[in-house]
Amino acid sequence: MTTAPIGVFDSGAGGLSILNSIHDLLPTENLLYVADSAYAPYGPKGEAFIQARCETIMQFFLQHEVKAVVLACNTATAAAIAELRQKYSLPLIGVEPAIKPAAGQSRSGVVGVLATSGTIASDKFISLQNQFSAQVKIITRACPGLVELIERVELDEVATKKLLHGFISPMLAEGADTLVLGCTHYSLIRDFIQQIAGPDVLIVDAGSAVARELERRLTALAVVNPGADVGRVKFYTSGDTVYQQRLLQKYWQHFLTVAPLLINS
Ligand code: DGL
Repeated sequence: MTTAPIGVFDSGAGGLSILNSIHDLLPTENLLYVADSAYAPYGPKGEAFIQARCETIMQFFLQHEVKAVVLACNTATAAAIAELRQKYSLPLIGVEPAIKPAAGQSRSGVVGVLATSGTIASDKFISLQNQFSAQVKIITRACPGLVELIERVELDEVATKKLLHGFISPMLAEGADTLVLGCTHYSLIRDFIQQIAGPDVLIVDAGSAVARELERRLTALAVVNPGADVGRVKFYTSGDTVYQQRLLQKYWQHFLTVAPLLINS
């Protein structure tokens, strides 16, 4: 059981921001990463659709006998983790916008949250926001079109910059000094977002917190891989494997290949 892999998935490349944190913190773990690229973006698709995709990906992971699953996607976590937890007993770790650390660190008392429309509209997010709304003013902004730009191998910097300016400038004008990256894709272009927001704006995401939570859960169940070797990391996609190999390679420090996501029925 300790050498069993951990499944990590996202609608596309975004979850690599979390996969990197997991691999850094738990280097001996064997990891399976699924980029559900044929169905990206999840943001505007609606909860029933996302729940069905999560269910399909869970089947894939169960066929590979994983010991835990990380939903490296805020939108999928908001739409599906409660339902998945009712059905499956293995550890399921999700990600949600890092409003708590942002609220603790903001000096102006104004926090901006960038996320998908699906995350912002979800009950899970609304209740998270309500927990902190007495402590800080929270401004939310859905970012249509941004995930699609990040899913391209060649980032169109001009278009990305223009879009980000439109999303971020009104938040800064309202006094936000802290921005939460509430979608794992946005963390892949964190440096770019920092450039646009300016050096005085604090940018927070949840990548390392998710990795630490995974470590806690594995430790509690005594299933941390005790091996001395670096774990194997395998990549799968529902999209075009050649294209995804080029895209995912941009955000992963070791050589990778991508296999098609095949699920036995
Ligand atoms: N990376 C995802 C998230 O964290 C989903 C982006 C999308 O597919 O819309 O929400």
